[in-house]
This record gives sequence, structure tokens and C-alpha cells, in this order.
Amino acid sequence: MTSANRFTIDGVDRIKFAVEKLDDACRFATDWGLTRIDSGDASSKLFRTADGSEVEIVETDLSVSGRRPIINASGLCEITWGVTDPDGLARLGDMLSKDREVSVDAAGGLHTVDDLGIPIAFRMTRRHTVVLEPTRFNSPGRPDRINSRAPRYEAAQPTEISHMAIGVDNAGDASRFYIERLGFIVSDHYANRGMFLRCAPRGNHHHLFFMNGKAPGTRFNHLAFKVRDIHEVIGGGQRLDGLGWKTFAGPGRHTVSSACFWYFNTPLGCAWEYAADEDIVTETWETKDFAATADIFSEWTFGLEKSDGRLRGPIAHSKDAPIEKTKS
Ligand SMILES: [Fe+2]
Repeated sequence: MTSANRFTIDGVDRIKFAVEKLDDACRFATDWGLTRIDSGDASSKLFRTADGSEVEIVETDLSVSGRRPIINASGLCEITWGVTDPDGLARLGDMLSKDREVSVDAAGGLHTVDDLGIPIAFRMTRRHTVVLEPTRFNSPGRPDRINSRAPRYEAAQPTEISHMAIGVDNAGDASRFYIERLGFIVSDHYANRGMFLRCAPRGNHHHLFFMNGKAPGTRFNHLAFKVRDIHEVIGGGQRLDGLGWKTFAGPGRHTVSSACFWYFNTPLGCAWEYAADEDIVTETWETKDFAATADIFSEWTFGLEKSDGRLRGPIAHSKDAPIEKTKS
């Protein structure tokens, strides 16, 4: 175990949203391909991906802390990180209690806030690894799918929660708590606009992306779910589009992290993203500082101007402001 994962945080276990229109939000989560679970609490709607990552949705009540989004009337309520070792969870509790209030729930999960005031939680992970059949491609000279028709997707079934993106006043300031206190690692920088962080040395390219928001304050931008391959991204996106949900961006392929993507607007106060084939990294991954060029958001996509030197699409909503790039 390295000092970078002394708390054994290994991914996102649950994201909680509070929303104004609960029925619309639940319909979206179902259309997205999540599985509805009986939470045992009529006021809390619970959904899962195949690996057990959870989305909890409650109705907004601004007078109740567990039902209050971080901003606006619908949005993020709490981020729960999964931990793999009980000793790691205990170390987290000791460390966080030094300078902030930490409450413990009936299941032993820890609840507190980060330095921006975003509610965060930690629990023994309830996720499990799902191993999918690999996608086989017939490349010239290297056929790998013989006498077998390619699978077709009429909908997506997200396998895992991949990552989230949060707009903040200053991405460097927002990242410091995660790097210096929780041991997160910087995977890449987005010029003077954002930082991609992963919670463990090996695995996802990023679990958390902080970017300088154009508007002041902290805003949850999007939540990304992994699907098997680009075909499932497209199949899922086409189904969402057919059901009348509106595209936020995509389909396309990110320049940073290499993932294929399709984002949709949701009734949850943020966008959701289908993502496939993102970079998986280890301790030897070399952090890069990407320039804020027109194509930084996507190598290819539809509906965005990219060739005239102007920033378009979601990156245009970030702010060019100096960020202190804390070393992990
Ligand atoms: Fe994303």
C-alpha cells in the first residue's frame, strides 16, 4: 500500500441527488438503464449500475440538510466514496475529525464536508467487479471476430459510475483537499481551467474533474457512467434521444482520457454522460498539462465548431484563471 492510497478509497459508491421533480428524475434514471432497487424508505429512490454503484434520489426540501442540493433547487446532495479496508475507513475518520465534524451512520459510514462545503461520505464499498466479454474488432490483417455477428445495442446498461465533474471558483483550491488530505492523484491538467483527479494510483483516469466555472459558486456539472464500448454509447444515446431527452454534448471522443461520450441534460440539475474506453492508468502514468485549444474537449464530435480557433462546447463554460497545481 502506498501513501497515495492509505485510506484505500477505490471509487464512487453512491451519488445522492435532491430534485424538484422526483417522478421526472426517476423516469430519467430508468430510461438511462439503471436498475431500480427497493431502498426500504418510500422517500428515497435508489438505482444501481451492474457493479452496485448507486444513485439515490430524494425530493428537495431546503429546510432539511439531507435534502438540500449544493446549489439551485435540483442537484448534487452528497458524494459517497467506497473504501476497501476497514482500517482505511477508521484512518479516514481519525484524520477528518481533526478539523471538521464527522458523523457516523448506522452502517458505519462516515459523513462530513470537503473544503468547499460539498457533503461527502465514505463507506465500505458495496461495489463488485463486473467482467464483460471483450468487444472484438476485425482490423485489416488482424481479424478477431470470426463467424460471429457484432452485438447490437437498443439501450445501454451502465456497468459502473466512472467520474463526476464539478464547476468551482478555482480548480486548484478545490483539488487541494482531495490531494493533500485524501491522497488523490493528478492525472492531467486542463491548462488554467481544470484538474483531473483519480482516487487511487491504479484504475480510472479520473474520478473527479474540477473546472473553473464561469459563474461564481460550486456547480455539479455531470456524472459519467461506464458502458462496454462505443456501440453501447451510441445505442444508449439513440434510445434516450428517441424518448425525447435532449443531448447536452456528443456523441464524441474526449481528447483527455480518450473516452467516447454522449451527454444528456437531465431533470437532476446536471448532465449525465455515457462513457466508454477511457484511459486506465497506473503509477507510471505521466501527467500532462493540456493547452486550452479548440479541440481539447473532443477529438471528434458533432455540432461543435472546432476549426476556427474558438473554444466551443462545454469547455467554453470554463474560466481561464491561474490555478495552483498542487503536486500529488
Ligand atoms: Fe465526463
